[in-house]
Amino acid sequence: MEHLAIIMDGNGRWAKARNKPRISGHRAGAEALDRVMHYCREAGIRYLTVYAFSTENWKRSKAEVSGLMKLLSNYMRSKEKELVSNGVRFRVVGRKADLSTKIQREIAALEEHTRGGDFTLAVALSYGGRAEIVDAANEWRKTNPGKPLTEEDFRSFLYAPDIPDPDLIVRTSGELRTSNFLLWESAYSEYYFTDVLWPDFDRAEFDKALASYSKRERRMGGRLK
Ligand code: FPP
Repeated sequence: MEHLAIIMDGNGRWAKARNKPRISGHRAGAEALDRVMHYCREAGIRYLTVYAFSTENWKRSKAEVSGLMKLLSNYMRSKEKELVSNGVRFRVVGRKADLSTKIQREIAALEEHTRGGDFTLAVALSYGGRAEIVDAANEWRKTNPGKPLTEEDFRSFLYAPDIPDPDLIVRTSGELRTSNFLLWESAYSEYYFTDVLWPDFDRAEFDKALASYSKRERRMGGRLK
């Protein structure tokens, strides 16, 4: 497997079960992300995309939105050295322009400083699959609107066209929805759903997800001979 994508769901419920504020669930979620990144590298996976903040998440309380932005900002600042020394290339996919100019600057700097990494961590921020398709269509319209469009042309206008499509998409916390995540890119992805809440996602859960994936026969619309 080359690319794993994860809908990191259940942070709020994890916190609630402990009588803690929602943001402490997100903090535990960031720790789970670090663990899983490590497992991915051991498993030889080269791309990890995580859904950290959707276009819909702006509707959450002001306190939660600003808490998540602060967490992200702290994460980028405190992990920069570690990401660089571990060869992790940090990317953001989503409507970056929706983010504060301060965060946009921090993202641009971290993306630049980690450019040489051979493992990609793509964080979906202010991301929506429909928004991505609409944004790509608008970008395309600016360039070559006269010419008929192919799927490959269209892909080149997505947020990260160089990242291969995800092989497996994991969603935690028992929700059986794809929630507008990687709409275009998931056309042939396998899905794995687990009841485990994201902050509790550990090595055993990771191994279970990979074992389930490895048993599947991927035809990508064709037939295996
Ligand atoms: C969904 O759980 C989770 C989110 C909306 C945020 C995910 C963000 C992180 C894990 C932060 C770490 C990311 C980085 C890059 C530092 P929920 O709040 O919807 O949970 P609930 O459904 O139980 O309420």
